Amino acid sequence: MVSRLLCLLALTGICLASPLGDLEKELKKEGVDLVKLHEELKHESEELEEEFSSKDTQNQLAKLRAAYHTCSNDTIQEKTELEVNGDLTKDLFEGDIVLTKEQWARALDRDPNVTLQRRQALTDAIKMWTPMGAPIIPYSYVDGFPEDKKPVIIASLKFWEGRTCVKFREATETDKNVVVFNHISPGCSSSVGMVGGKQTVNLGSGCFSVTVVAHEVSHAFGTLHVQSRSDRDNYIIVDTANIQQGKEHNFMKDPPYYGKIDNYGIPYEFGSMQHYHEKAFAIDTTKPTIYAKPAFTQYQGSMEAPRASFYDTLLINKLYKCTDKCQNKITCQNNGVQDGADCNKCFCPKGWAGTNCDMRPDSAIMIKLISNQNITVTVEAGTDEMKEILYIIEAPVGKKIQAVVTSIYRFMYSMCRTVGVEIVPSKDTRVNGFRFCGKPDATPIVSDSNQMLIWLYNEKANPLSADIQLTLV
Ligand SMILES: *[C@@H]1O[C@H](CO)[C@@H](O)[C@H](O)[C@H]1NC(C)=O
Ligand SMILES: *[C@@H]1O[C@H](CO)[C@@H](O)[C@H](O)[C@H]1NC(C)=O
Ligand SMILES: *[C@@H]1O[C@H](CO)[C@@H](O)[C@H](O)[C@H]1NC(C)=O
Repeated sequence: MVSRLLCLLALTGICLASPLGDLEKELKKEGVDLVKLHEELKHESEELEEEFSSKDTQNQLAKLRAAYHTCSNDTIQEKTELEVNGDLTKDLFEGDIVLTKEQWARALDRDPNVTLQRRQALTDAIKMWTPMGAPIIPYSYVDGFPEDKKPVIIASLKFWEGRTCVKFREATETDKNVVVFNHISPGCSSSVGMVGGKQTVNLGSGCFSVTVVAHEVSHAFGTLHVQSRSDRDNYIIVDTANIQQGKEHNFMKDPPYYGKIDNYGIPYEFGSMQHYHEKAFAIDTTKPTIYAKPAFTQYQGSMEAPRASFYDTLLINKLYKCTDKCQNKITCQNNGVQDGADCNKCFCPKGWAGTNCDMRPDSAIMIKLISNQNITVTVEAGTDEMKEILYIIEAPVGKKIQAVVTSIYRFMYSMCRTVGVEIVPSKDTRVNGFRFCGKPDATPIVSDSNQMLIWLYNEKANPLSADIQLTLV
C-alpha cells in the first residue's frame, strides 16, 4: 500500500526520494556495512550515556538544569543544520559530516587509555588540500544548480579567501579532486578534508546562508567540531537525558588536531562557528543538551557563531601553515597575528584594524563613557547578507565598564546563531564575548579594562535592537 502510494506520488511528480536511502546507498557503494555501523554507533551512544552518568555529573546537571533560563513563549524558535538533517544524522558523523569508509573505521576505533576518545588516527586520516601554504581547491556545481543560489556560495568562498591562504577556482575537466556543491540534498553536510576525487558539500533547502555554507566548507578544509574536542569535559556537560535516542554518538570526543596535543594553542571556544548550539539533538527543544560548566555559565546562550571567529580563522591558517611561507616578519598590536591571506599585514581581532592592528575600524561607533549611560544599539535587517555593527565603549583610564542588557526587540530568538548582540568584556578581543538574542538575563557583565565591545550581527529580515545599561565601576 505504502509503495503504491509512493508510486502514485512519483507519477504526479511530488514524490520525494528517501533522503536517508540516498545517503545509505552512497555509503554502501563505498563498502560501508551499515548494519555493523549502526550497531557500533549504538554502542558508542551507550558509552556516552555512561560517561555522563556518574553521581557527581548528575548532581551538577541537576543544578544547571534548575538554573537554566528558558525562553519566553514570544521567542522565535530557530533551527540550524542539525535540525534540518534530522534522521540523516544516523549515518553522519557529528551531525553534518560525511565520513569515508576508512575515516569511519578510524572514528570508531577508540583509544583504550583515554575515556571515549577516538584514536589519533581519525585526525591523521583527514587529508589536507595542496600545496601546503597555498592550497587551491577546485570547485564546481551539480547540474541544474540554481543560479540564484550561487552568490551565497561565492560569498562564503570569498569570506575564507579573504582571511586564509586557501584559494578556490572553478574546476576544469582535468581536475581530479573537486568540491562539488549539491543542492539536491535533504540536509546540510560535507566530507572532512580532501577525500580524493569528487566530494560534495550538500546544501538542501534549509542550508542556503553564508553562515551554513562557510561552516560546511570549513569541514571540507579538515575541521571537526569544538564540542568534541579532547578537552571539552573541562568546559561542558552533555545532558544525555535530553538527546534524541540514537543520536548520542554525535557527542563522542575527537583526538586533538593533527597530533597537536594543544590544538595549536587554540583555546576551547563556545562562540566558535564550529561549536554546536546548546540545544543540538534535543528532545525537549526548550532545554539544552549542552550545558556550560559553572565557571562558564555566561556562555550558555553564546554557542555557535554566524561567522568564523578569530580562532576559527587562525585554526585554518595553522592547518595549512599559511604564514610559514612569509619572508617578512611583521609586528602586530592588540593580539593581532600575521595575516594568512597577506604576509604584509596583520589579521586583527575584533575592534582593531589597520596594517598593524593599532587602529579602530572606520565603521565602528565610538562611545566615550564619562558617566553612566543607557544606550540603545541597533543593527538593520540583513536581508541578502549579514549586517553587522560594532560599538566601542571607552571609559576613562582606571575605570571599568559594567553592562546589563535590559531588553531585546522587536523580535527575540531562541538561539543567537544568525542574529544577536555580543558583549566582549575582555581587553583580549580574540575570544568571543557573551551573546543575547532572547529574553536577556540581567547578570551584569564587567569589563577587565577600560574598554568594552558591543557587536551586533543580523541575517534576519528584521532589525534587532537592544537596550543596554552602562555603568562606570
Ligand atoms: C504566552 O504569552 C502570552 C502573552 O504574554 C500569555 O498570555 C500566554 O499565557 C503565554 N502562554 C504560555 C503557554 O505560557
Ligand atoms: C596505554 O598506556 C600504556 C601505559 O602508558 C601504554 O604502554 C600503552 O601503549 C597505551 N596503549 C595505547 C593503545 O596507546
Ligand atoms: C537607566 O535606566 C534605569 C532603568 O530604567 C534607570 O534606573 C537609570 O536611572 C538609567 N540611568 C541613566 C544614567 O539614565
